[in-house]
Amino acid sequence: ADQTYDYDVLVIGAGPGGYVAAIRAAQLGLKTACAEGRETLGGTCLNVGCIPSKALLHASEYFDAAKGGAMAAMGIEVTPKLNLDVMQGQRKDAVKGLTGGIEFLFKKNKVDWLKGYAAFKDAHSVDVGGKTVTAKNIVIATGSSVTPLPGVTIDNAGGVVVDSTGALELAAVPKKMVVIGGGVIGLELGSVWRRLGAEVIVVEFLDQLLPGMDMDVRKEAAKIFKKQGMALKLSTKVTGVEVKGKTAKVSVEPAKGGDSEVLEADVVLVAIGRRPNTEGLGLDKIGLELNQRGQIETDHDFATKVAGVWAIGDVIPGPMLAHKAEDEGIAVAENIAGLTGIVNHDVIPGVVYTQPEIAGVGLTEEAAKERGAIKVGKFPMLANSRAKTNHEPDGFVKVIADAQTDRVLGVWCIASVAGTMIAQAAQAMEFGATSEDIAYTCHAHPTHSEAIKEAAMAVTGKPIHI
Ligand code: FAD
Ligand code: NAI
Repeated sequence: ADQTYDYDVLVIGAGPGGYVAAIRAAQLGLKTACAEGRETLGGTCLNVGCIPSKALLHASEYFDAAKGGAMAAMGIEVTPKLNLDVMQGQRKDAVKGLTGGIEFLFKKNKVDWLKGYAAFKDAHSVDVGGKTVTAKNIVIATGSSVTPLPGVTIDNAGGVVVDSTGALELAAVPKKMVVIGGGVIGLELGSVWRRLGAEVIVVEFLDQLLPGMDMDVRKEAAKIFKKQGMALKLSTKVTGVEVKGKTAKVSVEPAKGGDSEVLEADVVLVAIGRRPNTEGLGLDKIGLELNQRGQIETDHDFATKVAGVWAIGDVIPGPMLAHKAEDEGIAVAENIAGLTGIVNHDVIPGVVYTQPEIAGVGLTEEAAKERGAIKVGKFPMLANSRAKTNHEPDGFVKVIADAQTDRVLGVWCIASVAGTMIAQAAQAMEFGATSEDIAYTCHAHPTHSEAIKEAAMAVTGKPIHI
């Protein structure tokens, strides 16, 4: 270690980007500390994001299967009774177990946890918890927070107008819930409370849900959510939210203007996106400027313009996803250690953990077409033996390949286990696979994954089962 500094590496923020960077740096023999202001490690993802939302999605799926008749259709007749306290308890246990696990990993790898919010004093020193700590390299991994909706005050403790954190912690099932934003959070958490009995209305500004995903997928997803009983108000904007006691009046009107309407709700979830956390970090002290979207720009090695200062995760451009942050965490630590850490930003899968799951990797059909000639193969889950046997007929797989080279450019799935299926597509793309490579790879039968093989077969020829 360089004796001039307290540490070789100081990571600011212990989310999936920061904690992974810290552990990898320590594994590589660097003296490492990680500053975290929250009371537990794991960042947004483990505390109030990926993990607690999946705990509620998983549990509510069982409830819905029992209540909605899916279990009865398989000969299991039960009348479910919701115990929300127990369901919320297992969510808290999941978070506690995993955040505690990171604390254990820090100890095991000798990463020092500096408790408190860090602010730069200069490029090699920060103030954290009233102390000055110096490091040769500082990695900014401060993540993101919910984007506020102008004129709407979020009050998670009040439980009426909430963000995702408040929506995870509701003590009772709302009768009516208005979700502002038809993105990933709105659809996942909207699904949780719909399954548990709430009447859910999703208000989306754009003319389709899930911006950024393939258009076929977006349209099919909307049909499925409607079928499940979620009301969708697309091309609609919220003009105001008025709270009186325990109810809210949400004023909405067509995005292009027109007659307004008032939606009453006992819970309003604001989920219109997230923005990078840079406030109070003292970036002015090191002369680091933000881009127009408030993000920190880096080069391909995750180095910022300031020597010795690096940045990863939600605070830099790219999809705000835990696995993207984790991979950047590994890469930045390797680069600091003098190795070659690379993240292929063209192959980052995205998954919406509704039922069915919605997943994609690579280019959408729209983006691929803009780039050049393509071939597309599609296969419906209805024709996949396992999905059909499991009573999971909704969805499809779509494989997009370059017309000349047959190289796979993108894969999109809606299927009960799409989140697991998409891993093979990502790996195939990472290895530069053609659709033919996938089509001639032996897939176990009967699995949902066979739908990926058959969609790949559909790119150049014909699948067998349709
Ligand atoms: P974060 O996880 O936000 O961590 C940053 C940490 O830095 C925080 O703990 C914060 O307290 C700390 N910090 C900030 N400033 C300072 C400072 N000055 N000093 C010290 N500490 C500081 N992604 C997925 O891939 N899959 C999912 O299923 C998924 N589900 C989600 C569900 C919800 C409800 C939400 C809100 C997000 C979800 N995400 C999901 C997104 C995912 O949580 C983020 O992409 C991920 O956490 C980003 O990691 P990060 O390390 O960049 O930042
Ligand atoms: P999002 O960007 O996914 O969706 C926000 C939606 O709100 C968009 O559809 C947008 O058009 C709409 N919108 C914006 N302003 C609006 C307005 N004024 N009125 C109505 N609609 C409006 O953001 P979301 O859902 O808040 O999630 C934030 C981030 O967290 C995402 O970037 C996502 O990557 C991450 N996340 C990932 C999950 C996963 O990987 N499964 C789960 C949850 C969150």
